[in-house]
Amino acid sequence: MDADKGRNGRGGGHVNGGGGGPGGADGASRGGGALARIIDASLVRAGGWLPFDRFMALALYAPGLGYYASASRKFGHLPSSGSDFVTAPELTPLFGRALAVQVAEAMARTGTDEVWEFGAGSGALARQLIEALDALGRPPARYRIVDLSATLRERQRETLAPHAGRVEWLDALPETMTGVVVGNEVLDAMPVRLLARVGGRWFERGVVADADAPSGLGWADRPTDARPPVAIEGDHDYLTEIHPQAEAFVATLADRLARGAAFLIDYGFPAAEYYHPQRHMGTVMCHQAHRADGDALADVGRKDITAHVDFTGIALAAQDAGLHVLGYASQGRFLINCGLPALAEPAGVAERARAAHLIHEHEMGELFKVLALGAGEPWEPLGFAQGDRSHTL
Ligand SMILES: C[S@@+](CC[C@H](N)C(=O)[O-])C[C@H]1O[C@@H](n2cnc3c(N)ncnc32)[C@H](O)[C@@H]1O
Repeated sequence: MDADKGRNGRGGGHVNGGGGGPGGADGASRGGGALARIIDASLVRAGGWLPFDRFMALALYAPGLGYYASASRKFGHLPSSGSDFVTAPELTPLFGRALAVQVAEAMARTGTDEVWEFGAGSGALARQLIEALDALGRPPARYRIVDLSATLRERQRETLAPHAGRVEWLDALPETMTGVVVGNEVLDAMPVRLLARVGGRWFERGVVADADAPSGLGWADRPTDARPPVAIEGDHDYLTEIHPQAEAFVATLADRLARGAAFLIDYGFPAAEYYHPQRHMGTVMCHQAHRADGDALADVGRKDITAHVDFTGIALAAQDAGLHVLGYASQGRFLINCGLPALAEPAGVAERARAAHLIHEHEMGELFKVLALGAGEPWEPLGFAQGDRSHTL
């Protein structure tokens, strides 16, 4: 994959399998690393079968061992930097400067002066937003960060040292919060459950020990009453994901956000597109050294595992918990509405080319979406002035 395209996932995961069965928990063929031992112990405690969301949570977030807990670099432009993928704020600071235009309007509109960021990665977006909001004459009184990863929190502290007095890290959400919330590529990092229709029957796909597999892990299906939120036409074999953790996250956010707005940016689709009969291999993808692959059971802890976002499910969870959907648009359209082309004009050629990646349809402009949610009276954010697609959710 082109290192500068951002991760586009392309929606073609290959979480194959479905045979096998609960086996003995033996991590020896995975080299017996500490993470493998933790997964093996979890398998034993769970009776030999782990739902994929529990496996994904361990692979990404097991303290000190999961992908996001490790010291690896993760974000960057090129594999030579030791990075695995690039995100919009890592690609160009113009992303944060354009988003700041929307955040400033939301702060003014909702009468709030704090920014909350979930999943702040290297801290790049936080720095871009703070500096751009200062320049726009709307300095955030506090910039609060919630991130599961202790190593990334350390990196964020370094990136944000010049603004240390205003930045605060929280382990959990307070009972009540006010402000403007941002989250770039955080929903896709939340563990998903796998549902597989095989021979016309629905199963939940989970992880088992498999001494014959190179990774020491395999797939096994169990009958389930769970179903995708949309009926899948046809009776062909079909693999997909459901997102209870991301939806619970948004419901909690809705519950706590007394005044303000939230802007969630990620790759994904509305449910009708997500659960399209032709998308029969699901969207789980892994990212390592700027290559995407679909084998979540290989190199566990050394690569990122993600799934696309079902934006309909996120919007409904937010709405059920009391937030309004203020807008839903492609990232390209949103950033153009925020004035990215004019912001990019004074930049050099290379920087302008990187900004173009954010908005071009065949790069990040169409697959990535922005969902805006509001607490209090509904209003129309400038980022959705043209091209709002809320009606497709
Ligand atoms: C793909 S990275 C994106 C980082 C950054 N936003 C960017 O755009 O470069 C996902 C981030 O979300 C964090 N994360 C995942 N689940 C989270 C949760 N439930 N709450 C807060 N942060 C979370 C990870 O630790 C990581 O920092």
